Order: sequence, then C-alpha cells, then structure tokens
Amino acid sequence: MSFWSRHKIFETNSIILIIGVLIVISIGGLVEIVPLFYLKSTIEKVDGIRPYTPLELAGRNIYVREGCYNCHSQMIRPLRDEVERYGHYSLAAESMYDRPFQWGSKRTGPDLARLGNKYSDDWHKDHLKDPRALVPGSIMPSYPWLEKTELDASAIAQELKVQATLGVPYDEEMLRHAESDMRIQANADDPNAVDLAKRYPKAQSRTFDGNPQKVTEADALIAYLQMLGTQVDFKLYDNKANVR
Ligand code: HEC
Repeated sequence: MSFWSRHKIFETNSIILIIGVLIVISIGGLVEIVPLFYLKSTIEKVDGIRPYTPLELAGRNIYVREGCYNCHSQMIRPLRDEVERYGHYSLAAESMYDRPFQWGSKRTGPDLARLGNKYSDDWHKDHLKDPRALVPGSIMPSYPWLEKTELDASAIAQELKVQATLGVPYDEEMLRHAESDMRIQANADDPNAVDLAKRYPKAQSRTFDGNPQKVTEADALIAYLQMLGTQVDFKLYDNKANVR
C-alpha cells in the first residue's frame, strides 16, 4: 500500500476523518494562540488614548442601553473603501477601555468610530430627537427623551471603580472627582474645567445639549459621540500605510 492510498482510511471512515480534522485544526490553533500568552500585551501602546471621562462613560452607557450598537459599528477596517469613507482604520488601542467593546456586527447606519467633531452638538441634539428632521428618509429611531431626562449621577463613582478593577487606569484623583468631573464637563464655563482637562487630555467641556440648566442624558451621549475617534492624532501616522 503506497503512502497516498493509505489516505483512503480517512476518506472512507467519517469518524477517523473528523478526528484527523480536529488534530490538524488544533495544531493550527495552538501555533496562533500560544505565542500570545508570552506577550506582555497584544495591544500596541498608542499616544493619546486615555480612559473615558465620567460624562463620556455615562454617555457610553446610554449608547449601550439604547442599543445603538445594533445598527452602528465602531470599527473601521483597513480596506480602501472604508478608509476613504470613514477615515483612518481603527486601532486596537482605541477600544482598549471599552467594556464591553462596541465594534458591533452590523451596519444599518454608518460606522461611528470617527464621528467626533464631524457634526455640531446642535446637529446631534436634533438628530437624536428626530433623525428625519435632518436626514429625510432616515430609518433611525427617535430618542426624544434623552434631552429631557436628567442624567443619573448616583452610580458614576462606583462605575469608575469597577472599570478600575478591570484594569482601566483611573487613579485615586479621578475616582474621587468622578461625580464633580461629570458636572464640570457639561458646563460651558466652569473654572474647574482646567483640572478636568489635566486629568483627561483633550476632554471637551461645554453645554452639549444647549441647556445649561441641567445635565441631561443628551449631554452625556453627545459628549461621548463628539469624543469618538478623536483621541489619536493621526497626522503623526501615515494614513495610507497598511491599506490593502
Ligand atoms: C434601527 C437602526 C438604528 C439605530 C438603533 C440607531 N441608528 Fe443611528 N443611524 C441609523 C441610520 C440608518 C443612519 C443614517 C441616516 C441618518 O443619518 O439618520 C444613522 C445615522 C446616525 C448618525 C450619523 C452618522 C454620520 O456619520 O452621518 C449618528 C451620529 C447616529 N446614527 C447615532 C446613533 C445613536 C447615538 C444611536 C443610539 C441612541 C443610534 N444612532 C441608533 C440607524 C440606527
């Protein structure tokens, strides 16, 4: 029996074939996975990436609560059409503080990974209230309650603590100021905004929903949306490198 005709054993016996397939796939899997256990981190460090401010984190929670991820991805693939439409492809480091991650799995609406500073706060406020007022024919649902609902601040300090336990580098000072930082960021001219920007570089603070009287869920969500994709300065990197 020649070497090749012995292959008949696999081809004529499904159980042996399955066992053979499993062995071969396990070898391939181990070769890919085992080296990762010996790396200190699989995420390359990138300048500019910082933990979310308390207001952004609260906004992110609303994004998750409202299920925005069902229609929007936050992951630009390194393919020419995506990079030309949305901007620089996403880096692993850009979602390293996302628990759970917001890559999404379906784009009914556009990708939001580079949304920050694309539109004005007013645009977001009006769009969230009634998408069709700005984009005729939009099938995005309306979220009119966000600008009317006061943001619940009671759990934000605890939330930051939980994130810190999971490895997000919130330090003592950030944890101590969680609740006040949240209010400061939503106020256009709070003198303490300077301290906030020291703790969270490039944090934008203003009245996001146009109503200085109270901090609303719209404030938090818009602060989050306006930050998306703005942490890394891509002028430092070559935009077209690695695009297939
Ligand atoms: C049922 C699917 C669906 C859901 C859920 C949804 N969207 Fe959308 N979204 C869309 C579609 C479709 C568009 C494109 C039309 C438009 O701009 O309204 C869009 C557009 C957008 C845009 C404009 C993006 C751009 O670059 O032009 C933003 C911002 C946005 N959505 C945010 C949100 C947020 C925040 C939520 C959750 C509160 C959300 N969306 C929930 C479908 C959805």
